Amino acid sequence: MSESFKKTYPFNIISIKDLGRKEIESILDDASRIADGLYPDNALNGKILALLFFEPSTRTRMSFEAAMARLGGRSINLDSIEASSLAKGETLADTIRVVSGYADIIVLRHPSEGAARLASEFARVPVINAGDGAGQHPSQTLLDLYTIKQAMPIDKIDIGLLGDLRYGRTAHSLAYALSLFNARIHTLSPRGLELPDSILNELEENGTEVIPHEEINEVIPLLDVLYVTRLQRERFPDSASYVNIAKNFRITPEILESAKDHLILLHPLPRVDEIDPQVDELPCAKYFEQSKNGVPVRMAMLMEMFR
Ligand code: NCD
Repeated sequence: MSESFKKTYPFNIISIKDLGRKEIESILDDASRIADGLYPDNALNGKILALLFFEPSTRTRMSFEAAMARLGGRSINLDSIEASSLAKGETLADTIRVVSGYADIIVLRHPSEGAARLASEFARVPVINAGDGAGQHPSQTLLDLYTIKQAMPIDKIDIGLLGDLRYGRTAHSLAYALSLFNARIHTLSPRGLELPDSILNELEENGTEVIPHEEINEVIPLLDVLYVTRLQRERFPDSASYVNIAKNFRITPEILESAKDHLILLHPLPRVDEIDPQVDELPCAKYFEQSKNGVPVRMAMLMEMFR
């Protein structure tokens, strides 16, 4: 394992901004050794991970569970608000206090922005934010960066962020992280679903160039990486409003004809209809590889947090 982080106890990963470039690179390097099979399979023997998922999840939840199992640890689960005492009126703070007594680390997904930060204030064990409403999703960002790094050096890439950039937490965390790697960010989103001003301002303060586009054909030829996101309909106040505009942004093999040869196409998944299934067969389609990378990357995160 590479150089240790300077950490305060408990060590939380709530925002990608909790990690600097050095820490991110260290996790990516560790993940790459882990993907080559170089890890002690009993590293987390006796440790318990609590998965508190109050929103749907396939990849994040199962890959954390798989990561824990591969390292010899165990997971315990709380599936939904309805299935827990939150349904009886218990506060998130009390739930977190209680779960801190059962597990050595907590992974929380919650519909409210700021929920993971709040949880970390009441937890007596480390907390990982696995998505807080339209806030952040830092572990996804680490596997996104890992997948980019498999294809090209991350530094100074031209990346397109396409889709729902307002409510898409994976795009928020990724944009912050990319500002540490001197990326140039091209954005394309339905009107009303642009990156929030608070994020744009921070990126600008970091000296990151963010270029908004209106036409998909204009942006594709400029890119090294295209990161597509789903419309986060569950967060829309009025669900019908953006859907028609979004149809103009569907990725098809034809649209990709003008792309650079080395372009890679990423998506945090689940995809709904943003990417034509015919694209899956193209060499640039890396989204299933990306989801698979969730296991070694989360193994690297867990090993670091338990050091
Ligand atoms: C993302 C999420 O939950 O934010 N999914 C994931 O973790 N891979 C993206 C999404 O739901 O659109």
